[in-house]
Amino acid sequence: MKRVAFITGATSGFGRAAALRFAEAGWSLVLCGRREERLKQLEEELAATTAVHCVVLDVRDADAVNQAVSALPGAFKRVHALINNAGLALAAKPAQQAVLQDWHTMIDTNVTGLVNVTHALLPTLIETGQGATIVNIGSIAGHWPYPGSHVYGASKAFVKQFSYKLRCDLLGTGVRVTDLAPGIAETEFTLVRTGGDQAASDALYSTTTPLSATDIAEQMLYIATLPAHININRLEVMPTRQAWSAFAIDRDP
Ligand SMILES: NC(=O)c1ccc[n+]([C@@H]2O[C@H](COP(=O)([O-])OP(=O)(O)OC[C@H]3O[C@@H](n4cnc5c(N)ncnc54)[C@H](OP(=O)(O)O)[C@@H]3O)[C@@H](O)[C@H]2O)c1
Repeated sequence: MKRVAFITGATSGFGRAAALRFAEAGWSLVLCGRREERLKQLEEELAATTAVHCVVLDVRDADAVNQAVSALPGAFKRVHALINNAGLALAAKPAQQAVLQDWHTMIDTNVTGLVNVTHALLPTLIETGQGATIVNIGSIAGHWPYPGSHVYGASKAFVKQFSYKLRCDLLGTGVRVTDLAPGIAETEFTLVRTGGDQAASDALYSTTTPLSATDIAEQMLYIATLPAHININRLEVMPTRQAWSAFAIDRDP
């Protein structure tokens, strides 16, 4: 029987690239996102390659998540890999200028949404047992501070810690958990973060070589197909052209 990957945020960026990569590797797919039209297009694109079940889903809605998981058709019920990828950054400005609703939206999506999906799928992942994998998409922002990352970075620090804590409780079940933490990667991420500012997005990714969505999809597949006795706890991936910088120091004028 084909292995099933359950991918959230499959309508764009990493999630979409993961759908293409896992399909190519012979997995069946459950694909989630809020934008139905994009899910339909992706389903059509993959129709000749693998079996796909699409769910229009807002991960913030726990009832909808539970409903989607309990309504999975037979061939998709036994999930082998959960790719907890849906997420976003908002309010790309200092904390003191951020709108409170943007903070709530990031927490609701990156934290509450991720735990909603995890909680709903844990029983099937435990049933799958040896080799089952949860890949939680964190970020370098979950480990390294930088200006303007406030609640986004904190939400990704939650992803890291939740991944570690899950590992403790899942010991003995065979289910693996990884915090996959990318650095700068060209997707719609910056478009969302800047409220649709295409010029800002283009400016960020031009004149350097960011990671691509495909680069991260490749890491997801690598983690999910390692021999069952190996667990990567955290995988932080930056492009070669990104690194840390000096500490900022406030000085007298
Ligand atoms: N790009 C980067 O530089 C970078 C670096 C580190 C980490 N990340 C993380 O990588 C993940 C994927 O981001 P990306 O770069 O691929 O950005 P993206 O192109 O904007 O994709 C984000 C995906 O998340 C989905 N999503 C957002 N809110 C959702 C909700 N409430 N319910 C369901 N789905 C939702 C979106 O689908 P719908 O809008 O259709 O719902 C979309 O498919 C995020 O967790 C992000 O924080 C990105």
